[in-house]
Amino acid sequence: MVQYTDELKEEIRSANDIVDVISQYVTLKRSGRNFFGLCPFHREKSPSFSVSPDRQYFHCFGCHKGGDVFTFISEIERISFRESLEFLAEKARIELPVAENTEFNKNQYLKDRMHKINATTTIFYHERLYKPLAKIAQDYVKQRKLDNNTLKAFKIGYSGEYNELYKHLKNSGFKDEEILATGLVNKTDKGEFIDRFRKRLMFPIMDVSGRVVAFGGRKLENNDKMAKYINSNENLVYSKKRHLFALNLAKQSDSKKIILVEGYMDAISLYQRGFNNVVASLGTALTEEQGRLLRKYSEQVILSYDSDGAGQEAILRGLTILENQGCDARVLQMEGAKDPDEYVIKYGSGRFKLLVENAVSLVEFKIKMLKSKYNLEIANDKIKFLKEITKILSNVDNKIEREIYIDKVSEKYNISKEAIYAEVNKVSYNNVNETVLTKSVKREPKEVVISPSVIKRENMIIYLLINHFQDAYEQIVTNITLEDFKLEENRTIFKKILESPAEDSEKILQMISNIENQDIQSHVSEILVTDYEISSVEKCIEDVVNIYTKERLCNRKLEIIKALESTSSLSKDEIANLEQELSEIIIELAKKK
Ligand code: GTP
Ligand code: MN
Repeated sequence: MVQYTDELKEEIRSANDIVDVISQYVTLKRSGRNFFGLCPFHREKSPSFSVSPDRQYFHCFGCHKGGDVFTFISEIERISFRESLEFLAEKARIELPVAENTEFNKNQYLKDRMHKINATTTIFYHERLYKPLAKIAQDYVKQRKLDNNTLKAFKIGYSGEYNELYKHLKNSGFKDEEILATGLVNKTDKGEFIDRFRKRLMFPIMDVSGRVVAFGGRKLENNDKMAKYINSNENLVYSKKRHLFALNLAKQSDSKKIILVEGYMDAISLYQRGFNNVVASLGTALTEEQGRLLRKYSEQVILSYDSDGAGQEAILRGLTILENQGCDARVLQMEGAKDPDEYVIKYGSGRFKLLVENAVSLVEFKIKMLKSKYNLEIANDKIKFLKEITKILSNVDNKIEREIYIDKVSEKYNISKEAIYAEVNKVSYNNVNETVLTKSVKREPKEVVISPSVIKRENMIIYLLINHFQDAYEQIVTNITLEDFKLEENRTIFKKILESPAEDSEKILQMISNIENQDIQSHVSEILVTDYEISSVEKCIEDVVNIYTKERLCNRKLEIIKALESTSSLSKDEIANLEQELSEIIIELAKKK
């Protein structure tokens, strides 16, 4: 592996402004010198995620994640630090040095060939759908009421028999190993090449930019032994959990909502009927990566999963994942059809639109699910139901939101508001007691509490050392000692600075970024994105140094006074010396006021 130099790292860093990069994942608003937004790493409703354009650092005051642009990319894309470098280099079109024939190089070439094979295959299948031999597929799409525009928009196709695709790809100049890498063709034990998809209706799966990365194929025969759908296996260019079917189309929609369905046919059928903001998770459980994609391209996600029993659990899981990603997630409730495709054909797009508008939140959905477990005609059941819903309601931390739900529930299930409030308050009261209890238990080995103002002051010292090294260093190290630092993180950083031979701000920052400790890094990022509102650096250094010298003098003053109270153990000289020192301290302190 080629080592990337620090210069190259800096070149990549400066070509990727942190605000630009993060803006592609988070909506940022400027406030003062910094930008703020909703943290992409934890769930929150008010923004505590801050980005400093001056320092090129980010920090979340909620979950305490933070760091530079490389940290951000490796966290959000879940890739290694090295990969984040490569990712950002590619973004900025900076060429990375490569040793010839590296794995990385070979992979890039192979990926490129695979994309070309997928594109060629898409055309091959699609054109084949219009040939006379494709009658069975043509009849099928007619029966499923797909029109020609839709067939074109999704590049729907018909796969061949036996090894037709393989032959076509070979004729187009692709090598066996490249074709096998896509999984579109398999090699048998006997060394024969056979197409994976045969005589199926083909749905290309595209990535966000519209490149085909995989395929799904639906059977056309009425044969129970055949799988209804088969999909491409995961490969170098296709990772199931990172893709959503039709997202390339949905992202172009003006709507701020995205409708999330399970099946290919649901997405396609809704699209044809005017819903151009639909994506499909293709029957698998929604992943965090998909949740992140959805949040990136929409403000609200409406889950429209199949209405069978298994669907309910999938909905709950999906909703939870989306909410954890900070999405506004809703559930569309459908009756009279098993899936959106069937519904929209049966009842029309107008009625489906109403369902979209009436989609409910996670809380309402949970309550509705609970309701189906109980018979509210029976008093005992009603009490149990009330107990269960209050658990759900007391988890809603926004008070106004909670009141709205209580109103709704009271009306819908005919339970008095007072009864609900009484129960909710009970639960909240217990919660409060619990937290108090756990805290005091934790404090058992006497946890030292450091006041926020002390932390802020210490942070500012570190800030000064990083940003104004020349002006601050001498003054600070001669007047403030390592023991003065109360917060462990600050002490570690200060120790590093004391030990280092670095003589300018850049080097200090570099050295600190190299401390391999997540807590320290997140603490540093907090310091770097905080606006200390310093108008005069000199004055600021003087003030902060003064606080410590004053504190030291005051402590010494108290010590002396205490010693002088019991003079019996002291000699005359000692007493005289202490009195002399005391008067000097008093004068010194008076000067400082
Ligand atoms: P139609 O029956 O054609 O309307 O398809 P559908 O999209 O309504 O399918 P369904 O609701 O049964 O399943 C939802 C999604 O799960 C499908 O779109 C597929 O992505 C996936 N799926 C369904 N059946 C299979 C299967 O047998 N194998 C695999 N791998 N995936 C399947
Ligand atoms: Mn269906």
